[in-house]
Amino acid sequence: MMGFRSFPIWVFVFIACLISSTYSQFNPADKYSIDCGSPTNTTIGGRVFLSDNLASSFLSTPQNVLVDTGANSIPSSEYSPLYKTARIFAQTSTYTFKINQPGRHWIRLYFYPFTASNYNLSTAVFSVSTRDNSLLSDFQSDQGSVKEYSVNVTSGNLEITFTPSGGSFAYLNGLEVVSVPDLLIGDGATSLMPLTNYRGLLTKALETMARVNMGGPTVTSRNDSLWRSWVPDTSFLKSPNLVTDVSKTDAVEYPDGGATEEDAPRSVYGTAARMASENDTRSNFNVTWEFPVDRGFQYLIRLHFCDIVSTAPNAIYFDVFIQDSSALDDFDLYSKVGGLARAYYTDFVTPSINNNLLKISIGPAIVRDSLPNAILNGVEILKMSNLDGSLSGSGVPSSSKGSKSKIVLCARPVIDPSLAREKVNLAEWAMVYQKKGQLEQIIDVTLKGDIKPDSLRKFGETAEKCLADFGVDRPSMGDVLWNLEYVLQLQEAVLQNDPDENSTNVIGELSPQIHDFNHGGDDNTNTGFEMSSGDDISGVSMSKVFSQLVKVRGEIKEKVSVGGLRLIDYLVYFHRV
Ligand SMILES: *[C@@H]1O[C@H](CO)[C@@H](O)[C@H](O)[C@H]1NC(C)=O
Ligand SMILES: *[C@@H]1O[C@H](CO)[C@@H](O)[C@H](O)[C@H]1NC(C)=O
Ligand SMILES: *[C@@H]1O[C@H](CO)[C@@H](O)[C@H](O)[C@H]1NC(C)=O
Ligand SMILES: *[C@@H]1O[C@H](CO)[C@@H](O)[C@H](O)[C@H]1NC(C)=O
Ligand SMILES: *[C@@H]1O[C@H](CO)[C@@H](O)[C@H](O)[C@H]1NC(C)=O
Ligand SMILES: *[C@@H]1O[C@H](CO)[C@@H](O)[C@H](O)[C@H]1NC(C)=O
Ligand SMILES: *[C@@H]1O[C@H](CO)[C@@H](O)[C@H](O)[C@H]1NC(C)=O
Repeated sequence: MMGFRSFPIWVFVFIACLISSTYSQFNPADKYSIDCGSPTNTTIGGRVFLSDNLASSFLSTPQNVLVDTGANSIPSSEYSPLYKTARIFAQTSTYTFKINQPGRHWIRLYFYPFTASNYNLSTAVFSVSTRDNSLLSDFQSDQGSVKEYSVNVTSGNLEITFTPSGGSFAYLNGLEVVSVPDLLIGDGATSLMPLTNYRGLLTKALETMARVNMGGPTVTSRNDSLWRSWVPDTSFLKSPNLVTDVSKTDAVEYPDGGATEEDAPRSVYGTAARMASENDTRSNFNVTWEFPVDRGFQYLIRLHFCDIVSTAPNAIYFDVFIQDSSALDDFDLYSKVGGLARAYYTDFVTPSINNNLLKISIGPAIVRDSLPNAILNGVEILKMSNLDGSLSGSGVPSSSKGSKSKIVLCARPVIDPSLAREKVNLAEWAMVYQKKGQLEQIIDVTLKGDIKPDSLRKFGETAEKCLADFGVDRPSMGDVLWNLEYVLQLQEAVLQNDPDENSTNVIGELSPQIHDFNHGGDDNTNTGFEMSSGDDISGVSMSKVFSQLVKVRGEIKEKVSVGGLRLIDYLVYFHRV
């Protein structure tokens, strides 16, 4: 009799492979892949990017300009075959794709700025949008990048429009539109600060800011059932010496009704970063990753876990913090998934982030008698569209590209009679907070994260001195300038670990420059903004600052503070210009 056992083992292996390969076969309802500017199809990871010519029916554009690097100057990477050619859009141009099945779709834009036939793609400045969402505005880059968005398409067409910014042109090396499985991103998550239920993701467009494989290698689209790419975590780690990488890919189980291979592949769940606590049972520290993000937006954070570390149940209890705020407390993964090495993920939505770094930390829970440990297997950081449906740029003017002058402190005009009396005079109002050591309280919330505490403290001290009741106690013009210069340097972290950093009176100990400003005499030091002349000041920018200050002369007390508060802007501005 032919028993079950009589099948040779290879039959089972064969069937298992067949099942698993069928399972991981991604067959999206909508799938468009284009190698812009290319005369031939290009195959990457098994998927065909159509030649530009075959894709021309999707594009409405006033003219066809295709460019080619000609040289093999593109460094090799997963998508480098797409980067050798590009299409130039000298005027507004739109791709229109027929959508067979409404719902979320990934839009992937591939950019690589090379120089060819009169076009230096690094100089291109342009915007990209769909009917509902702004994806990029005034985008310019001197590096290759893949921008990935996920937008919910509710009509029968998806339009993607490229608009050159005044006088410039747009370009594109590759484009992909692919259906996202409906179950991948739900409507709900956990809101942070405080922890509550969040609903409303279905209406949000998302941009992938980071998709990271903790403790493991790059996972290319070929190894991901939904053609996503995952990068290693090393470059995001704050202190790499605090983690140990673990790998046990074969152990990963996808539990029924839980995370699936579509949520993240085995190569993500099967590797982890764990606390480097093996040799010290009293270890108590956090492992922290920092991810660059655009401020002014909320983020959807998906954390992937799989306990490939423990050999027995209930061996790890840990905490997870997002932006220093508790996300998971005394987290018991084993109880959550009912076993070891089972894939699990959980989603969080942050409040609007007001700086350019998003921080995720893991650390041991204190309560148990288990050995201290904490793990993380993968992270996805997705920017959420704002109320205008926009994902582009910063929520506020960016501080990074010379636009500091338009904002660096307090989000209100200098004199605002409509506010409560004690807030009317910004200077006095500010001093109330300065004296309480809480100047940061009145800094525009959108800027808070950008201002270095030391810089703010120095600024507050300088302003306070300018407001001293007696002229003799007020610093000289030169001292004010020097101090503000110092404020700026602290802000830009030029002076790192300077022992004078915490000194409340660094003036006078140093810098021959001060004497330039002071004209070498003590005569001026006590006269507020009085100056003997402005013409031998070092550098044009300083003389501009002075001329601005001259404009605000008058009642010393208020004007000095006004000048002081504004001076920082001037200094930053003139430094940039
Ligand atoms: C390019 O790819 C498309 C879609 O797979 C196919 O129909 C077409 O025949 C290919 N063209 C060439 C020249 O291989
Ligand atoms: C292209 O433009 C960038 C940015 O302006 C510049 O740095 C680069 O040198 C230019 N490349 C060439 C080949 O002209
Ligand atoms: C797309 O949006 C529609 C309307 O808001 C919603 O009913 C649908 O569930 C969304 N689909 C997905 C996959 O988010
Ligand atoms: C990717 O898949 C190939 C086989 O398809 C395998 O050999 C390789 O180890 C995988 N890489 C990762 C990082 O999982
Ligand atoms: C723990 O000790 C072992 C053996 O000395 C060593 O190989 C390993 O690197 C140590 N781990 C850490 C995190 O220090
Ligand atoms: C870990 O980080 C959190 C949030 O910043 C902090 O409250 C906690 O004290 C840190 N734990 C350790 C051990 O440093
Ligand atoms: C400055 O003060 C801060 C907070 O008191 C302290 O952490 C830092 O070490 C001090 N820096 C120096 C250089 O003394």
